[in-house]
Amino acid sequence: MSQKAPKLPNRQTPFSEAFVSFIATDWEPYPSDLPAPLPASAHTAPRRDAMSAAFPGERLVIPAGNLVVRSNDCDYGFRPHSAFAHLTGLGTDREPDAVLVLEPHAAAGDQPAGHDATLYFKPRAPRTDPEFYADPRYGEMWVGQRESCEEMSALTRLPTRPISELPGALADHIDTVPTRLVRDVDVSLTALLDSLRQEATGEVDRDADEELRTALSELRLVKDAFEIDELQAACDATAVGFAAVAADLPTAVEKGRGERWCEGVFELHARHLGNGVGYGSICASGDHANTLHWIRNDGGLRPGDLILLDMGVEVDSLYTADVTRTLPVDGTFTDPQRMVYEAVLVAQQAGMEAARSGARFQDVHEAAIRVVATYLREWGILPVTVEESLDPVTGGQHRRWMVHGTSHHLGMDVHDCAQARQEFYREGILRPGMVITVEPGIYFKSTDLLVPPELRGIGVRIEDDIVITDGAPRLLSGSLPRTPDDVEAWLAAQRA
Ligand code: GLY
Ligand code: MN
Ligand code: MN
Repeated sequence: MSQKAPKLPNRQTPFSEAFVSFIATDWEPYPSDLPAPLPASAHTAPRRDAMSAAFPGERLVIPAGNLVVRSNDCDYGFRPHSAFAHLTGLGTDREPDAVLVLEPHAAAGDQPAGHDATLYFKPRAPRTDPEFYADPRYGEMWVGQRESCEEMSALTRLPTRPISELPGALADHIDTVPTRLVRDVDVSLTALLDSLRQEATGEVDRDADEELRTALSELRLVKDAFEIDELQAACDATAVGFAAVAADLPTAVEKGRGERWCEGVFELHARHLGNGVGYGSICASGDHANTLHWIRNDGGLRPGDLILLDMGVEVDSLYTADVTRTLPVDGTFTDPQRMVYEAVLVAQQAGMEAARSGARFQDVHEAAIRVVATYLREWGILPVTVEESLDPVTGGQHRRWMVHGTSHHLGMDVHDCAQARQEFYREGILRPGMVITVEPGIYFKSTDLLVPPELRGIGVRIEDDIVITDGAPRLLSGSLPRTPDDVEAWLAAQRA
């Protein structure tokens, strides 16, 4: 919804009339073969049906979002909104400015009431259009050939229309068809629809819009078989990236700014095997591990230290892994490092054992954090009893050393389903097909006077991705080592 006539930058030579007529000639016709459907597109219809059933008789507007300027005339790489990707099957960098509309229809004959889906997008302009050669944001000569409506329909198995028709379609019956929008994903679309609704009905019901956003988030709480396969692929690619980083640890030490080296090596594999990283990689050596979201990654690596690596590959369908391993830089844990590591591993195991269908989401955290608090007390660090600390009203002292939760849902977003209601998320019940992380940690900052000196500066997190099943959870990231002995053996093997 944000197309404008291309404006020539001040460094661009104006186009002569001779060029304008010449550039339109002597091109091969566009291929008549249609592209194969995207694999994800085979799984989107039931998701749209679920939204249709949740909002009968209402128009639902789900935008992909727009290109966002990084600086001056350079945009960030485009990443579609997850709800849009989930309902259309479009992944990678598709499709800036596109909008999915679910239009309600009444029952007619044999056809029950429901919704018709239409994908509005910006199809390629003909080569006679200045967009072809003069538009650095959308033009074929600049960013490659865009799809025609027929090609986009073949990819997504959806009816498609040019985005130029969207304002008319939204205005149509706006006074009688309740219309909900995922707000603020597409700024100009939000403004347009707000003004249409305000004019037609005298109000914009923002709460109704938020209910749509919530429903789209809750729709992703249980993954289908395709999604689980994609998450497995993301974890497998992530394991390749971790192995490459492990192999390069000596180089990272030698080169200086080794955290950046690790980040770069992982991102090479993330871009090679998938769409990229699913979130900013955390490559945190030594005391940096105790900064939970350390993404500056500009530190050096020192033999004798640990490095905490929290990294995940996002595959082309946009499902991402979220994995953490904490590795000894020189290949061998010191005794204090091993002691902390083993405690975190026991906590993680307790969390995984609690991750059963029918259990509460919160049970996973409670099982893991009890282990963390117990070790902290045993080591003489926690100044109150375990039970006192675990008291939700009067306690919480253990959180000084693990302030984050143990789990979150994982999917297209690293923190997936983030708009789901509390009763379905934090207070929700685990069900088969849910995918969550289990990621306890213990973080001893170098400045923490309550911690024995030999433990200061040690930060450990172990994070794995699991699918809830009818029995024991399925470990998606299990090809990476978890026990300290296995970590050491694996590190040695990567370096051999
Ligand atoms: N990488 C972010 C997280 O573990 O939640
Ligand atoms: Mn996580
Ligand atoms: Mn993580």
